[in-house]
This record gives sequence, structure tokens and C-alpha cells, in this order.
Amino acid sequence: MKMVIAFIRHEAFEPIRGELLSLGFPSLSISEVKGSGRQKGVTERYRGAEITNYLRPKVKLETVVDDTDVQTVVDTILKHARTGAVGDGKVFVAPIEESYRIRTGESGSETLQTHSPEDLPS
Ligand SMILES: Nc1ncnc2c1ncn2[C@@H]1O[C@H](COP(=O)(O)OP(=O)(O)OP(=O)(O)O)[C@@H](O)[C@H]1O
Ligand SMILES: [Mg+2]
Repeated sequence: MKMVIAFIRHEAFEPIRGELLSLGFPSLSISEVKGSGRQKGVTERYRGAEITNYLRPKVKLETVVDDTDVQTVVDTILKHARTGAVGDGKVFVAPIEESYRIRTGESGSETLQTHSPEDLPS
């Protein structure tokens, strides 16, 4: 199991979410974060003073998937998040030791994404 962690532009999230869902990856988390990359900050004037903001808003997307699904998920993120301009974001892949579905107590990679239809609560 691996966690794919992506820092992306806000506009990229909805196309990524839609394609991941259609590919069978409905389970993810997002948070709104601020971060900095390689660029210098954006300098603006505020009440006569020059303010340099080094932090830019990004969406942080996290999804835990089976090892065999990592490349599909990464490719989907890259496809929709790349504009070619600086600040398109970053994708990281990290190992995950274990996963438990709390409702049933089951564990392992079967708990990560789509359920088989008979497993879904009615
Ligand atoms: N090494 C890192 N660790 C944690 N977060 C990072 C890292 N690199 C980038 N980020 C996050 O990703 C966001 C986007 O990074 P960004 O796209 O600006 O990367 P970059 O390396 O500067 O590439 P580019 O030249 O395309 O801008 C950052 O604002 C930050 O939130
Ligand atoms: Mg940058």
C-alpha cells in the first residue's frame, strides 16, 4: 500500500476527482494548505508597504492505494494538474503499513478503494 500525496492547483482537483472516481478510486482526502516552492514570493503593496508573500494556496490531495495502482493514480494527477507554468505542484508517494475499515474490522488493501457490491451497506 502507498499513499499518493499531491499538492495541486485548486482548479485541477475536480477533473482529477472525476477521473479517479471513474477509474475506481473514490476514496480520498483533501485539505487546503499553503506552501512554497522554488520561486521567490509575490510582492504586493499593502497600505503603502511592500509585502512579500512566500506562501501560495494549494490543495493537498491524499489517497491510499494498492501498490499496483500507484502509477495509474499518479498519471491521472499529472495529466490534469500540468499546465506547464511554475507552481503546478508536486506529487509524493509514501509507504503505508496497514489499513483498517473501522465498520467491519477488516484490514489490508481490499479496504482501500471500491467495495465489491455485496459489501456495501444497504
Ligand atoms: N519538497 C516539498 N515538500 C513539501 N511540500 C512541497 C514540496 N515541494 C512543493 N511542495 C508543495 O507543493 C506546492 C507547489 O510546489 P511548486 O509547484 O511551486 O514546486 P516547484 O518545485 O517550485 O516547481 P515549479 O518550478 O513548477 O513551481 C508548494 O506550494 C508546496 O505546498
Ligand atoms: Mg514553484
